[in-house]
Amino acid sequence: MLHAILEKRLQLAVRSVCPDADIASVLVRPAVDPQFGDYQSNALMAIGKTAKTNPRQLAVRVVAALEISDLCEPIEIAGPGFLNFRLRPAAIADVLADAAAGRHLFFTTTARPRTIVIDFSAPNVAKPMHVGHIRSTGIGDAIARTLRLLGHRVITDNHIGDWGTQFGMLLLGWKTELDATALKKDAIAELERLYRLISARCKEQPNQQEAARAELVLLQRGDPENLALWKEMIRLSQVQFDAIYGRLDIHFDYMLGESFYNPWLAATVADLMTRGIARESEGAVGIFSDGSLPPKEDPFLVNKDGEWQADPALIRKSDGGFNYMTTDLATIDYRLKTWSPDQVLYVVDDRQAPHFRKLFLAFARWQPEANRRVQLRHIGFGKILGDDGKPFKTRSGDTVKLADLLDEAEERAFAVVTGKRPELPEEERRIIAGIVAIGSVKYQDLLPNRQSDYVFNWDKMLALTGNTAPYVQYQYTRASKVVRDAGPLPAAGALPALHLTDPAELSLARQLMDFGIALEATGEECRPNYLCNYLSDLAGRYSRFYEACPVLKAEEPQRHTRLTLCDLTAQVLKQGLTCLGIGTSDVM
Ligand code: ARG
Repeated sequence: MLHAILEKRLQLAVRSVCPDADIASVLVRPAVDPQFGDYQSNALMAIGKTAKTNPRQLAVRVVAALEISDLCEPIEIAGPGFLNFRLRPAAIADVLADAAAGRHLFFTTTARPRTIVIDFSAPNVAKPMHVGHIRSTGIGDAIARTLRLLGHRVITDNHIGDWGTQFGMLLLGWKTELDATALKKDAIAELERLYRLISARCKEQPNQQEAARAELVLLQRGDPENLALWKEMIRLSQVQFDAIYGRLDIHFDYMLGESFYNPWLAATVADLMTRGIARESEGAVGIFSDGSLPPKEDPFLVNKDGEWQADPALIRKSDGGFNYMTTDLATIDYRLKTWSPDQVLYVVDDRQAPHFRKLFLAFARWQPEANRRVQLRHIGFGKILGDDGKPFKTRSGDTVKLADLLDEAEERAFAVVTGKRPELPEEERRIIAGIVAIGSVKYQDLLPNRQSDYVFNWDKMLALTGNTAPYVQYQYTRASKVVRDAGPLPAAGALPALHLTDPAELSLARQLMDFGIALEATGEECRPNYLCNYLSDLAGRYSRFYEACPVLKAEEPQRHTRLTLCDLTAQVLKQGLTCLGIGTSDVM
């Protein structure tokens, strides 16, 4: 794309003036303020500093060596040495013509494809998925789709929580308190009831606690009856997960739950002990600080009353059971051996940040060689809040079930669609409402910087104006309708030249050209909010273009130019929304 070409040429010019300069640091970015042009580069400040040259003088020499007049107006050197690039309309038209001919859609796939494992969603068995699960699920899916589009080899793996002490209580509950009718009606609700009941009893009655523990031990030893019941609970949960993932249109390459790693846990602990990385303490086994980090940065230490105390990562309990950490260590080992990834991304809420810091450091100590070949990254995110600024709950104070939330979103979206298009048959309004509802829930969640908490707001997320899914979806619907109404476009070989003249045309065209930059930033930094903001900006520019410039009634060559803008806008909006896991409709 043009911006990459500008960057390349600028790097060559810098090299010819300053042969020792680190030209990889010479970047061209979209201009912060469009008043100064389309792109800018601040790189000469740093280059000048290293080369001990006045950056402004350096800029004059670089600009003299820069061959760029085919693409840009004369370069402007601003302030102490910033470069401002303003594209020629004809150069923009050329890029658009290439896109219209189907040669690209304003992005290129990567020259260095990486293998990237993405661990996301990961709900726990026998519990209903709640509103919080939308975060890991939606963010992880958007990152996976974007990286895939950019040409990376992406492996998605849902690390379901299907093992742990809760099964002792669930088994005891199933054997003593199961309501078979309730189970048939709503299996997850019944499992949740059993879990709550037994866990409350365990707090008061030591013999219940003993009984639950005994069930767990039986399960861990492979008792056939308990194994069969445990499998049944997983199957029942899977039905629920599948229904939700189906509604959200989210699919995983693998669903290797925690239990999948059970066969390797004992060996993992033994190996860590043999290597002197883990040791026994009060009957349990843990990984302790190796003293290589300053205490403040050492996650294996905690400050209590002004003193640094050990805060080990436990990998075996005193009763012989294993921990979340043990499974996660075995999981890294398995993933590295199975897929040789360059990166593993964990899309998990920020409260688990200390766990991942410990995990990554522990793995680096365990397998330093393998660790050098992989980047382990925690992609954290904040909470969803209610109007009161506290975690989002139902009126009665319960956690909001994801299935109920999606139902309500569909009902509310149906009302919005009906308000707008009452003449459409109900069936069609329902289909559109589904696309709008799921899109709105996802978009609202992807829009804020992922590490911020955000306030859940029905009216805002479903509004047809503002930075919302319905707004972006609606601009897609408008743009694609113009193209359909125009009838067939000329064949690729016979396309007339494009002439961009109106400021609204140019503004829209410039934004189209930056699609690749938005995709790359989203993929590299794992921040879908970049893509949301890009798309809402594009949708806004399209809307202003559409108000200012008649399309179908315009004379040639304007008509063809404008129609091409509509077509490319529709394509980019659709592709961008697809990356966010959000659908579109031709009618809205
Ligand atoms: N099931 C876990 C939870 O609900 C999340 C798992 C995240 N992934 C991982 N590899 N630890 O908290």
